[in-house]
Amino acid sequence: MTRYGSFPGSRPRRLRTTPVMRRMVAETRLHPADLILPAFVREGIAEPVEIGSMPGVYQHTRDSLKKAAVEAVEAGVSGIMLFGVPLDEKKDGAGTDGTDPDGILQVALRDVRAEVGDDLIVMSDLCLDEFTDHGHCGVLDADGRVDNDATLERYAEMAQVQADAGAHVVGPSGMMDGQIGVVRDALDQIGREDVAVLAYTAKYSSAFYGPFREAVGSSLRGDRKTYQQDPANARESLRELALDLEEGADMVMVKPAGPYLDILARVAAESDVPVAAYQISGEYAMIEAAAQRGWIDRDKAIFESLTGIKRAGASMILTYWATEVARQL
Ligand code: PBG
Repeated sequence: MTRYGSFPGSRPRRLRTTPVMRRMVAETRLHPADLILPAFVREGIAEPVEIGSMPGVYQHTRDSLKKAAVEAVEAGVSGIMLFGVPLDEKKDGAGTDGTDPDGILQVALRDVRAEVGDDLIVMSDLCLDEFTDHGHCGVLDADGRVDNDATLERYAEMAQVQADAGAHVVGPSGMMDGQIGVVRDALDQIGREDVAVLAYTAKYSSAFYGPFREAVGSSLRGDRKTYQQDPANARESLRELALDLEEGADMVMVKPAGPYLDILARVAAESDVPVAAYQISGEYAMIEAAAQRGWIDRDKAIFESLTGIKRAGASMILTYWATEVARQL
């Protein structure tokens, strides 16, 4: 490289001079098709209820959920991930409403599927925490501990009712050992080889789930540290990945996204199936709250957070901003 006196011979700034130049050399582009909208549907409400800690996100009625699904399709979003919020009095130790064909999540899956057909990939959260009175992701043993294998039996049944209700994809999110294999078998047993499994592969025990717990009216006391991963650990995610792939996962997920971009990059490097990342409720709430106070530029922060997640290796991103962002792209 020729140098003239002490001036730099290399000038990376040349590629940053104009918006079109920057656009041309951008390595990472968000596309509406990358995005999946998580959505909540609550039983027994006449109007949508805005979630206090997630301004702009609602507990939907059956009708408003259908509208949200159609808006997502129109914006070019690829999928919707449904969470059910049953009446409080329907919660019990076994999370019975989660396997009732007329339970709120199944009803919503049928509604949305009837509305969007195959224009939107309809996904269902496969977990018991929204349906149990103790708020854990599984059933408890006599000593009050989450019973892994008894929970797997519940998940198998959930997978079957969710498939019957119209889910294209089920998303086991409880972090029980063996959950992917059991869910795959349960689907195959009823002839639903067509239903895909999105494994929550690396799901960390995170403080950033706080607003979600309000969103689903969670009754959890205590924490999920005996089944969700310790934020201190990275290697264990690769072990979870190997197990989920062996058990038949069609897609894998890292969650949360923002504080775990190193995990996402490692999983993306190892995985031979598509990798999703879930930008969770707390990540949403932090940006919205800071923006409300005028402390950050909301739209720029949203785009930067999503670009970072994609740059780290996500093929798909679950984000509560999915429809809004897809419209802007
Ligand atoms: C479990 C589940 C949780 C989230 C998605 N699925 C909560 C938890 O593990 O406590 C969190 C999503 C979010 O925070 O946006 N059913």
